[in-house]
Amino acid sequence: MELTPELLQRLKTLATEAAEHAYAPYSKFRVGAALLLENGSIVTGANVENASYGLTICAERSAVVRAIAEQGPGTRLLACAVTNLNRAASPPCGACRQVLNEFMLPSARVIFRGKSDWENYSFDEVLPHRFELRSAAWGD
Ligand code: THU
Repeated sequence: MELTPELLQRLKTLATEAAEHAYAPYSKFRVGAALLLENGSIVTGANVENASYGLTICAERSAVVRAIAEQGPGTRLLACAVTNLNRAASPPCGACRQVLNEFMLPSARVIFRGKSDWENYSFDEVLPHRFELRSAAWGD
């Protein structure tokens, strides 16, 4: 499946809308993520903070967990778009990159709001030399 300009725009829009659902009373930093799955469906997530700050779940990870819960362990990702409502750069944090890696296809793209405009990278560019046990996890 190809990431057409229309699909890319849809991911950006849905990520922005998802950020409206963020629960971020502590940081006030509202993040939204939209994942494009191999089957063409799109699953979104938002950050969910906690009074015990370290228990906060980022938007990207909430989207990944939702995608797996809704569509099962064979879920594969083609793209992840991330943005925020704070007019700030919004690249996925290191922990989220590692979690995304569990399900990202080799050709996957990561799109995020940069300092001035959206930026678009391959997953390899945002997480080179990553730790993975794919043969065990994907059974291939
Ligand atoms: N956050 C995300 O949702 N995604 C990231 O990749 C980085 C940070 C959230 C966590 C916290 O609720 C807020 O942004 C400020 O760190």
